[in-house]
Amino acid sequence: MDERSWWDLWNKSYRAEDNKDETSTELFAHVVATIKHMAQGPPKRILEVACGTGTLSRRLDFSSYHGLDISPGAVEIAGQKADLLQLPAGTNRPTYEASDFHEWPSPAGAFDIVLCVDAISCFRDQQLVLRKMAEILPVGGLVVLTTVNPVVYNRIRRVGGVRLENGPVSHWLSKRELHDLIEKTGLTLERSYTIMPRGNMGFLRVLNSGRLNQMLGTRGSAIFRWVKELAGLGQYRVVIARKGSPELTKRFRSVMRDDA
Ligand SMILES: C[S@@+](CC[C@H](N)C(=O)[O-])C[C@H]1O[C@@H](n2cnc3c(N)ncnc32)[C@H](O)[C@@H]1O
Repeated sequence: MDERSWWDLWNKSYRAEDNKDETSTELFAHVVATIKHMAQGPPKRILEVACGTGTLSRRLDFSSYHGLDISPGAVEIAGQKADLLQLPAGTNRPTYEASDFHEWPSPAGAFDIVLCVDAISCFRDQQLVLRKMAEILPVGGLVVLTTVNPVVYNRIRRVGGVRLENGPVSHWLSKRELHDLIEKTGLTLERSYTIMPRGNMGFLRVLNSGRLNQMLGTRGSAIFRWVKELAGLGQYRVVIARKGSPELTKRFRSVMRDDA
């Protein structure tokens, strides 16, 4: 199966409906809250790279939103859903485009925020993709990216389904590899942390067991969850990076938080 057809299949299997599974719903909610927190002030111009069926676009506030994805099937679903959206006054209707981001003619300075949820592992040339994201942004613009954390992902037992690892995944990036790629683009890493502890194989089977959580009680297990996120044992890594002038970059470096 070629890349486009495989991603059509994946998007139609998992993203034709919104809120189909708790994990992705929680991930999208986290990204929405992060954007709200990081991008204060008036609504922003957002580009989402690998937008799938546009699930995130239906939850975000923006002045304009453009989503692109290599899967024509996903983009068609996103467009149909966008036609039904009730948008606040002053918001442009979201637009979607079927395109391979490697070849997309990136318009410099046209967006304030570039988003990429759970997709960097799927690109053939991850360094090129990150460099293009940086080029698109004006000084001060943000990249918000989430990606599967291989430490946890490889310890989740699954049965059946259209599994990501059976498709055109180019490379699951470790924390260090991801940070290196980002820093090579000239973006300044502001935050990097993991969320949503999961995993039911190996040592994670013990750490995430229902019995242990029961023993800890509600408050204890909330604290333990936070400790696991800090220790890099969340299923997803969230990375926030900013494009800075050399002076801005220096200032952000001095306050950079590199949790976990
Ligand atoms: C795991 S899915 C995540 C989709 C979406 N962000 C979500 O969370 O629902 C990865 C996405 O990357 C897209 N993708 C893979 N390679 C791409 C490329 N070269 N250019 C644009 N999109 C690509 C796929 O079509 C797929 O929708």
